[in-house]
Amino acid sequence: AWRGGCGLMQVFVTRRIPREGLAALSQAGVCSIQQWESDEPIPRSELLAGVAGKHGLLCLLSDRIDKEVLDAAGSNLKIISTLSAGFDHLALEEIKKRGIRVGYTPDILTDATAELSVALLLATCRRLPESVEEVKNGGWTTWKPLWMCGYGLSNSSVGIIGLGRIGQAVARRLKPFGVKKFLYTGSRPKPESAVEFQADFVPLAKLAEESDFVVVTCSLTPDTKGMCNKDFFSRMKKTSVFINTSRGAVVNQEDLYQALVSGQIAAAGLDVATPEPLPTDHPLLSLKNCVILPHIGSATYATRSAMSVLSANNLLAGLKGESMPSELQL
Ligand code: NDP
Ligand code: DGY
Repeated sequence: AWRGGCGLMQVFVTRRIPREGLAALSQAGVCSIQQWESDEPIPRSELLAGVAGKHGLLCLLSDRIDKEVLDAAGSNLKIISTLSAGFDHLALEEIKKRGIRVGYTPDILTDATAELSVALLLATCRRLPESVEEVKNGGWTTWKPLWMCGYGLSNSSVGIIGLGRIGQAVARRLKPFGVKKFLYTGSRPKPESAVEFQADFVPLAKLAEESDFVVVTCSLTPDTKGMCNKDFFSRMKKTSVFINTSRGAVVNQEDLYQALVSGQIAAAGLDVATPEPLPTDHPLLSLKNCVILPHIGSATYATRSAMSVLSANNLLAGLKGESMPSELQL
């Protein structure tokens, strides 16, 4: 067995994870595992106590790994492995300063997340939750020519904010629906990614003005925080549909609410929100033209299993001082 100093390396796992990942960790003979064995988030005090003295940490996107946690962990901590592609919950500067390596789980969740993004887009623009509700509540009285109409993808312009792994996978899935034009925005043009969709790199304002569908698939950074705000929504067409499967904080939710209530945009579909969970009395939940999902982008059995195994293998490789299957370059 791999030993660090006088015993097995110690790792802390902040949640119940798919059994394949836990099996990979426990069968490696490299580490002893302490785990918060619950489907619910670990209380902050338990997290601070749990990481103390550990060599490795396997965490989730709902765990804020900041200076306080790193200080509580102490100098043993060398590897953080997050069960996510997003890493905005990690204080990367602090982590880097301490020489800690980070593993994450991109790529393997791209298909599932893109699929969910398309599902959410279609559910939103064709008003599926509202229609299902009408069937149940007796609102379906007859076939009505003017009833439950929405917007379709055929001949449309789609704007992708962040043409990364998931953004490209969304565009690839939307193209066969007859999309006429793809636009994208980001920190720089990506001709090698855009060529497949003949997508035009445009400023954010132009993307808002010209898109029938806006799909947000960027990472959350200081630059993207609150990027979809009043100015952005005011530029969008009244018939346009806004979809966000990245992180809730990319959107100013008060501005989105106003845009939806005032008819500035037609509808929104969100897989992510601020905070998560969104309180059940949140104003956005009162709107028929807003479809909100509980952050299920990567939630297929196969994908969550693969994420758990990859995060375990990242952690194990890091503990052994080897190159990780998927390491975040700090
Ligand atoms: P990538 O790193 O491949 O893509 C992120 C994209 O964000 C890049 O193309 C980047 O473009 C873009 N970006 C960065 N800054 C800006 C900016 N200022 N304006 C517009 N775009 C910008 O990551 P993934 O595609 O794998 O994942 C993206 C995000 O999706 C994750 O960070 C995570 O937050 C979220 N996610 C959500 C899931 C869910 O369940 N809903 C599941 C998985 C991920 P550039 O290179 O030009 O900077
Ligand atoms: C991620 O991986 O960042 C998602 O939000 C959850 O899969």
